[in-house]
Amino acid sequence: MISYETHETTSHVLTPEGASIALNGSHEARVWAAVPVKGEGSPMTPKELEAKIGSDIAKIGQGRAFKNKWIGKEGDSLVKLAAQIDDVTQKEMREVDSTGTLKGGEKALAELRKRKLIVQKKGQWFTVHRGPNFSTSTAKPETDLTMEMLTTGAWKTSTFKRYNFEAEGIPTNGGALHPLLKVREEIRNIFLEMGFAEMPTGNFVDSGFWCFDALFVPQQHPARELQDTFYLSDPVKSLPPPADYYKCVSRVHERGDFGSTGYKAPWSDEESRRLLLRTHTTASSAAMLYKLAARFRGEDEDEDALTAHSGTTRKGRDAGKGDDFRPAKLFSIDRVFRNETMDATHLAEFHQVEGVVADRNLTLADLIGFMRVFFKKMGIENIRFKPAYNPYTEPSLEIFAFHPLLKKWVEVGNSGMFRPEFLQPMGFPPDIHVHGWGIGLERPTMIRYGITNIRSLVGHKVPIESVEESPAVRF
Ligand code: PHE
Repeated sequence: MISYETHETTSHVLTPEGASIALNGSHEARVWAAVPVKGEGSPMTPKELEAKIGSDIAKIGQGRAFKNKWIGKEGDSLVKLAAQIDDVTQKEMREVDSTGTLKGGEKALAELRKRKLIVQKKGQWFTVHRGPNFSTSTAKPETDLTMEMLTTGAWKTSTFKRYNFEAEGIPTNGGALHPLLKVREEIRNIFLEMGFAEMPTGNFVDSGFWCFDALFVPQQHPARELQDTFYLSDPVKSLPPPADYYKCVSRVHERGDFGSTGYKAPWSDEESRRLLLRTHTTASSAAMLYKLAARFRGEDEDEDALTAHSGTTRKGRDAGKGDDFRPAKLFSIDRVFRNETMDATHLAEFHQVEGVVADRNLTLADLIGFMRVFFKKMGIENIRFKPAYNPYTEPSLEIFAFHPLLKKWVEVGNSGMFRPEFLQPMGFPPDIHVHGWGIGLERPTMIRYGITNIRSLVGHKVPIESVEESPAVRF
């Protein structure tokens, strides 16, 4: 639209000292003005001059004033010699200030630069001409060829914007699943393809009875203390658990039963009925197993228990034995709560993945074999087991996997064979064995997405873009 030429200029501007001279006169002129005419007024010593106009100006100005023969000395006193002076320096400062240069030329300018009264200033200016496409209005190039353009023939004269094949396009404005939900879905699919049914786990609030007592966790266990478990203040107390079962569980704790000696400690009804936020999903597994055992108590199975059986068929070792107990394979993936100090890898609420398998005469080898298959489906082939302790399982095994990036064995899960003290008060006969295991959901998700701080995964500091842009996960 336009063409232009650039021009360079140099001009001069005053330094602060130069500006002061333009206003008040040169130092030598100020010295001359301050010194008395010979015979008039009281004599003035150099010290008195300094006191009057300032020592800097007095010292610098005296030299030039003497040289110019504007002042002289009589004894110790200074006297005016010239009746009139021409303050060239002040004139030059005023000339530079208004014209940017001196008629005196470069030599005079150089002298003033040396005295640090002026400095050079570079500038630029332009001459601008109308170009071949000059216009006072702007036209937007067309981005679409419309039917109207075609029918009116406007397309012939329109200017079109070039296609940008590098453009990334507009991001689609749709919902996005949080990484935890994607990983949950992947794990859920593994369970479903292995014939598992999902347990109902909606009750975040549970009682001490279902979370601990039913699982044979002693009432004095440290996990039940305030610093580990969140208790409800309102309401404090749960509804009573099924009476017969409750009696049986409290007896196993206090005095022992089913071949167990129990804890030989007093039973607290209050402790059992305390409402809390469940600390593990095994609380929900316990409730589900209780429903599953209904047939052995001579009760009707409820709907949840019937769903649990679906998808499982009796095969193998015990098939055709003539009993109608069908094995159950159950799983859940849901939220649990612990009164933890939060840091880069710990939250007070997180998710547990849990599976339980119930069948006649299951052994530890079944559990180990099952774990290998399950973790292989999660992409973890290299696993090891370490003996561990849980109040509700015996034996208990911690599961370790070799982390190829960390190059070390990391704990990935906890498992075991549920104890008779847990299963038999529900009504299960001794030969029905149940094994179970639990893994975290957050840890595999963090590893999968390369996240090192859990706060980048959960909570208010998670950027919404990271959720929208997180890829799908495949184990
Ligand atoms: N409940 C255990 C935990 O919170 C996991 C587990 C489940 C262990 C089932 C054994 C059997 O870590």
